[in-house]
Amino acid sequence: MKSFIWSFEIYLLGLLIIGCNKMESSQKAEQQNWWKEAIVYEVYPRSFNDSDGDGIGDLQGVIQKLDYLKSLGVDVIWLGPMYQSPNADNGYDISNYEKIMDEFGTMADFDSLLAGLHKRDMKLILDLVVNHTSDEHRWFKESRKSKDNPYRDFYIWKDPAPDGGPPNNWVSYFSGSAWQMDSTTNQYYLHLFAKKQPDLNWDNPAVRDSIYSMMHFWLDKGVDGFRMDVVSLYSKDPDFPSFPPDFNGDFAHFYANGPHEHEYLKEMNRRVLSQYDIMTVGEASGVNLDEAPLYVSPDRHELDMIFQFELMGIDHQSGNYLEHRDWKLPEFKQIITKWDTAMAGKGWNSIFLGNHDNPRIVSRFGDDENYRRESAKTLATFLMTMRGTPYLYQGDELGMTNAPFKTINDFRDIDTFNKYKEIKAKGGDIDHFLDQERMFGRDNARTPMQWNDQPYAGFSTHEPWIMVNPNYTEINAAKEDSLQHSVLNYYREVISYRKNHPGLVYGDFDVLDPPNKKVFAYLRNGQQNHFLVVMNFSGQEVTFQLPDRAATRNWNVELDSYYEGPSVKNGEVVLKPWQSVIYREL
Ligand code: GLC
Repeated sequence: MKSFIWSFEIYLLGLLIIGCNKMESSQKAEQQNWWKEAIVYEVYPRSFNDSDGDGIGDLQGVIQKLDYLKSLGVDVIWLGPMYQSPNADNGYDISNYEKIMDEFGTMADFDSLLAGLHKRDMKLILDLVVNHTSDEHRWFKESRKSKDNPYRDFYIWKDPAPDGGPPNNWVSYFSGSAWQMDSTTNQYYLHLFAKKQPDLNWDNPAVRDSIYSMMHFWLDKGVDGFRMDVVSLYSKDPDFPSFPPDFNGDFAHFYANGPHEHEYLKEMNRRVLSQYDIMTVGEASGVNLDEAPLYVSPDRHELDMIFQFELMGIDHQSGNYLEHRDWKLPEFKQIITKWDTAMAGKGWNSIFLGNHDNPRIVSRFGDDENYRRESAKTLATFLMTMRGTPYLYQGDELGMTNAPFKTINDFRDIDTFNKYKEIKAKGGDIDHFLDQERMFGRDNARTPMQWNDQPYAGFSTHEPWIMVNPNYTEINAAKEDSLQHSVLNYYREVISYRKNHPGLVYGDFDVLDPPNKKVFAYLRNGQQNHFLVVMNFSGQEVTFQLPDRAATRNWNVELDSYYEGPSVKNGEVVLKPWQSVIYREL
């Protein structure tokens, strides 16, 4: 009897603990913000739509497509750099932050784009590229004139090493040394990207003042935030240490998170960001799971979100961005789960599979040969059912694929060209390199948007600056719009479903059967609704056995990428190749 009372007391204690935990988890419910509920769509202006027939996309071209964007259901447009630029790196080399690139139009065009978006209840975020400028920026032109020029310290200048070579052995992201000798003053300047992209010296308060005032210029016009280019690289190690002898090749991490990084971001937040109701997302090259919350924890007052690079590295060999490696679904799940857990209650994730620097998502994570439509839809299901803000890249909503680049002349990217030259100079395997670039090259995502089956895919009336993917006659927005069960129409549906169900935005994420090699499944537990998402990431039919905590519940099919609605029977779901289903508990 005594032991019965004891176990009853223990049982009561257990209930109390569970109750407290529950209370705690509901108390910890995510703080709501418009940018957490938003769906962001990246426009790469050069390749989106050409309104004036010069083969290059422009701002009026974007304006012509605003109703298309509205019909997709996205809320925020992230516009790639549209500032004045000599285009060494397609606008990521800015020569004037307060002027519009001639090829893209005028400030009046920009103002009407912003007004057109706001009129449709959409928002606009700009690409803030302030780790570096163009070497044609007025600041750099002054800076290189003499050692005592007032702009000298706007950039990072160093004397040569004793042998006359560069000050240290740092390499540029685009290959070769990160230092360029300038004969006017016989010093080297730092460029972590192309030599036409000198790095700004963030330790100089005058640089920061100039950047903040430029940010006010755009925010006062009414823009709704920034995507911050390579934000993690702003602060440099003042010792500029060479890579150690046992260096593992992870130079992004070596350059990132400098000693004053967070001090500068806090300052930027205080002096600029906090004064507006905006969103910020930082491109955080070299930032790992431990460092990420330092950028995005709300109580630190820095950024709202970052783009992490771990998932984008899944198919590269570590320390060698040029070599492909095979990956398996459990690794993908593990990265997603890890980042979700790390951010839960501490920050907010961005959810993305591609952008202008990465291959087409259906070619990389789906199956563009055998199940292009099906796999493109399942990737959409993933993007729209995760906790975090989803980011889409233009054309992925049509299931656009990597391009069939043949020779080096088909490419346009400075990154590809520089690496090609370096490998050639070293007598390396050029064919192998080109194979890798066909798979990973950034130009894959930069071929023109495929609007219809007219010449140049309806993107332009003139031969575009980069080849149109010849599959445009099959894959284009007009066709996708007309087919009921197209990738585009599925995106519209799944976007609208997410927007009507905040549980998919804020609810807890609980992965099911992590080692399963074919199925990615999870529960999303919102305050009002519980969801079950089951996605077949393979080209085979599979039977997925739900674990006990999900098996016996009453699941209603809400959205199914095959429109057949497989129900949960005996705790099992049978999925066709690349099929995905969203269920809601009744
Ligand atoms: C970022 C941009 C990329 C650019 C680089 C240098 O990674 O996304 O396109 O080349 O920064 O600005």
